[in-house]
Amino acid sequence: MSNKKVILITGAAMGIGRAAACKFARNDWSVAMIDREKEALMAVSEDLKKEGRDVEPFLCDVSDYEQCNDTVEKVVAHYRKIDALYNNAGVLGDRLGILDFDHKAFQEAFQTNVFGSMYMIQLVSRTMVERKLEGCIINTTSINADIATWDPVGYIGSKGAMRCLTRTCAFQLGKYKIRVNAVSPGATVTPMARASWENKEVYDTVAGLHIRNMWIQPEMVADAAFFLASEEAYGINGVILPVDDGYTCGKSADFSKIS
Ligand SMILES: NC(=O)c1ccc[n+]([C@@H]2O[C@H](COP(=O)([O-])OP(=O)(O)OC[C@H]3O[C@@H](n4cnc5c(N)ncnc54)[C@H](O)[C@@H]3O)[C@@H](O)[C@H]2O)c1
Repeated sequence: MSNKKVILITGAAMGIGRAAACKFARNDWSVAMIDREKEALMAVSEDLKKEGRDVEPFLCDVSDYEQCNDTVEKVVAHYRKIDALYNNAGVLGDRLGILDFDHKAFQEAFQTNVFGSMYMIQLVSRTMVERKLEGCIINTTSINADIATWDPVGYIGSKGAMRCLTRTCAFQLGKYKIRVNAVSPGATVTPMARASWENKEVYDTVAGLHIRNMWIQPEMVADAAFFLASEEAYGINGVILPVDDGYTCGKSADFSKIS
């Protein structure tokens, strides 16, 4: 068995997952890259292989239990073990609000964001327990789970569910020495949020909700996930780590000019 640590990253073809695959692979991890978008997945994994990185693409829709099961088996057959899981794949759904949301979009958000994450947690943590590995799991929640927003209600509910489940998984898997934490990104410049950041007015408004008037870059979230997976984070368990430039601190009006 190689001395390299192995991480399985879902949603690795684009956005934050792609940045995470690059971060881990360039820092000497072996990376099992999971996505359902074949072309994008192959393109990024080929680029990393050309750099000499140890990555392997696996086509999988995480909302399907059988596909997750099959994929985890293939990853273990390839790498012999999985040390870490980054549940990053996520879908937004529609933005139609409570009176009009589409029930299928609502279901799809839960199917990928919650069910897919839990399928992977169960399947991957079983492989860790079998091998007595002190593994680690990183989930993905969102600022939407902390504050009221106009984002899709299915998405918000799914991210709230992942907040609760992260803590519960940390507790239930703790006896096997598996740590479970989550990252909670602010508004991040990825394909998912393109409709917002491509519109100058929306971009500026959203930037203004972050303390330093900025958007989060995917690499910032990838760096936080990398830290949570590292030995330096060995004491950190059951934590939801905001990567949101203080968005969820809440911003008041600036009264500093009033004398
Ligand atoms: N972008 C933001 O502003 C933001 C903010 C907070 C949280 N997040 C969360 O961060 C994570 C990554 O988001 P992103 O912005 O990089 O998204 P993105 O849409 O840019 O990329 C998501 C990736 O996941 C893949 N994916 C989606 N559903 C899948 C499925 N069922 N099976 C396999 N792969 C699937 C997509 O193909 C894509 O490659 C998501 O969980 C998202 O909810 C994003």
